[in-house]
Amino acid sequence: MNFHIMTLFPDMVLNGLSESITGRAAKNGIINIDAVNIRDFADNRYGHVDDYTYGGGAGMLMQAKPVYDAYMHIISKLKNAKPRVLYMTPQGTPFNQAMAEELSGEDDIILLCGHYEGIDERVLEMIVTDNVSIGDFVLTGGELPAMMIVDAVSRLVPGVLGSDESALYESFYDGLLEYPQYTRPEEFMGKKVPEVLLSGHHKNIADWRKEQSIKRTKERRPDLYEAYMKKQE
Ligand code: ADE
Repeated sequence: MNFHIMTLFPDMVLNGLSESITGRAAKNGIINIDAVNIRDFADNRYGHVDDYTYGGGAGMLMQAKPVYDAYMHIISKLKNAKPRVLYMTPQGTPFNQAMAEELSGEDDIILLCGHYEGIDERVLEMIVTDNVSIGDFVLTGGELPAMMIVDAVSRLVPGVLGSDESALYESFYDGLLEYPQYTRPEEFMGKKVPEVLLSGHHKNIADWRKEQSIKRTKERRPDLYEAYMKKQE
């Protein structure tokens, strides 16, 4: 699976994703992360890719041409002439696990990171297939959102997680949050591991975990709990 990140800060995304599991997967060639510097497509020797907004107002906007040229540079090297292009924006669809799963089936994904006050609307209309938000807050740029999406999608690509890691019961499995977990020692500062987990009784352990997942979801994410209960009906 190939990720192509269009950004003004290629080192930020490449450095961040070069560590840990995404870094290992890239080293092993299971995923490929490529960052294209939009500034390399500036049409002036200063590398300026932003300008004032028509109609006035504060802030600068990224211009259409360098973004379009960077996009064409990526596209010219792909088999698929119409890959998904995700624009990182607080105005997008909130990203979730179902979207990560859907995206993990693609061969190539382009992630477009904006800066300043955004990007000229015309080029967005031409190239973007999905507007994606990572939450109802505003960041200084799309790099952190793009890194989050690469991370969430990568771990679903076969071979990216080791067997120990993929064996992890998923938060969001079945729409519920994960149950609490414990490791050694059996007692920490007077607090004991729940008895049932030491019993070796698989059915009781599974029942306890399910019950804890439901309880936790109800307390922490009433919205997910509601949806879960509806599905059960
Ligand atoms: N760019 C700035 N804020 C963002 C957000 N919340 N989600 C996605 N991209 C963004």
